[in-house]
Amino acid sequence: MTSVRSLYSSQKLALRYFTLSVALFGVMIVFGLVAATQYIHPSFLFPALAFNMVKTMHVDVLILWLLTAFFGSLFWLLPSEFKRDLVGMRAANVVFWLFCATIAAVALTFLFVQTGPGTDKTLWLINQGRKYVEEPRWAAVVVAIGIAVFVYNIIGTAVAAKRVTGITAVIILNMIPLFGLYMIAFPAMTNMALDQFWWWWLVHFWVEATWEVLIGAIVALVLMRVMNASRSVVETWLYIEVALVLATGVLGIGHHYFWMGAPKYWLGIGGFFSALEPLPLLGMVIHAVYDAGEHKMKMTNQPAFYWTMLEAFGNFIGAGVWGFMITLPQINLFAHGTQWTASHGHLAFWGAYGCGVISVIYLAVQEAGGHEQIGGRAWKWAFGLLNTGMYGMGGSLLIAGMAQAFYERAIGGSTFNAYVAAQQTPWFLEGIWMRWVFGLIFTAGYAVLAGNLIAIARRSRVPVAAGTLAVEGAGTR
Ligand code: HEM
Ligand code: HEM
Ligand SMILES: [Fe+2]
Repeated sequence: MTSVRSLYSSQKLALRYFTLSVALFGVMIVFGLVAATQYIHPSFLFPALAFNMVKTMHVDVLILWLLTAFFGSLFWLLPSEFKRDLVGMRAANVVFWLFCATIAAVALTFLFVQTGPGTDKTLWLINQGRKYVEEPRWAAVVVAIGIAVFVYNIIGTAVAAKRVTGITAVIILNMIPLFGLYMIAFPAMTNMALDQFWWWWLVHFWVEATWEVLIGAIVALVLMRVMNASRSVVETWLYIEVALVLATGVLGIGHHYFWMGAPKYWLGIGGFFSALEPLPLLGMVIHAVYDAGEHKMKMTNQPAFYWTMLEAFGNFIGAGVWGFMITLPQINLFAHGTQWTASHGHLAFWGAYGCGVISVIYLAVQEAGGHEQIGGRAWKWAFGLLNTGMYGMGGSLLIAGMAQAFYERAIGGSTFNAYVAAQQTPWFLEGIWMRWVFGLIFTAGYAVLAGNLIAIARRSRVPVAAGTLAVEGAGTR
């Protein structure tokens, strides 16, 4: 068991990233709740907080808490793969503080400048107006530098260590698209179809290819840590998953091209390849369950194990099954842009990434504090409440979305009147109310989770949450 005094410097940075990530997760939930309330009472907090900005904060912070948690996860897990500390930690620490300052500055800009004309200047200083990557260009430059330093931390360490395992090789190769695709956050094209076309390269590829590969590698490392799973088994599965992700996700991007002016052949290509996208996700489930069976469920960290298992299943259900439901052009015709999509978006992000990074955070607080096991009931409550909340929200949105598909599209013929009428049906209204109720349950789960993580960190021999980040003996083990 790792003791507190022998943390690598990259692991100390990881704890910082996890703290930031859990805090951002909370911020995201607050904005989600405000947006959900505005669905019921449209004038809630208006004009101080307009829905468009509340939603922007919600989804941008989503990307941020996951990205910072990914950084933390690799900073935590990789020293044992490389058998040494990561290189370039001074620069990585500067990047961390730069990220904190940038996030705060962009959030304030968004909140104080919610409307106004768009010019070249506002693209640089205020808002780029592209969903999920709204941050102004100056901030995108900071993010790009941050990712570049991160790529250096990892590839530089591999070179210095002269040691590459199967898992680290996959992570290293994945760094190229992780960085390269982010460049699409920059150009602003006047042709909307072209702009959307390339923008999906970032949005779809990040979440359905590079992030999937990354989480696959992280899950592989967690399975080895928590259950002593054999390296050859997890690596074999990882290769299979990566091959399938690339085979399906690359052309599967076509499922976003149905409505934005792209050539018609994308209907067939997108429909076919995206329908195959659940395959690698199924591989992940089999992989995790196989490893669990192989080791007769002997695990050293129960919460990490449960969250990893849920990641495998949740990824398959939220991304695979829920995505499959709406991916064929024949069905997307009715489901496009309804709450059905939002249902899929929530369950996919939660299952694929939320659960995965929470698992690593539990692993980190355990190892940092030198705990043999993580006992108590709090983690079980957090697990239960968060998942009841999320699957409840997903179910409610599914009902609301199906009502839209049925009344607005199938019966109403997609007219504007039908659009309004569908939103007044009891199915839709109750779905939106139930999402709010389950949102509160989710929020309660978050409170228990955050409290539990802080409590475990405080029980450590050297408390992690409150400034332990300055533990002695950096970089040695
Ligand atoms: C209390 C918890 C939450 C509430 C009440 C909530 C509520 C909302 C609302 C009202 C929207 C706007 C939907 C629209 O424009 O029609 C939204 C969008 C979104 N939320 Fe949440 N959310 C919560 C948690 C989460 C979590 C934990 C995740 C991911 C792990 C997430 C991911 C998303 C995504 C990806 C979108 C954009 C979906 C789209 O436009 O299709 N949310 N959420
Ligand atoms: C981890 C993986 C995935 C994540 C995080 C994810 C997330 C999302 C999100 C947030 C959206 C809404 C995008 C927007 O703002 O317009 C979306 C749309 C969509 N997703 Fe996924 N997704 C994943 C995997 C999949 C898979 C595997 C499939 C198909 C099998 C799929 C099919 C779709 C389709 C068809 C849409 C467009 C829906 C529409 O036309 O409104 N997704 N996804
Ligand atoms: Fe996609």
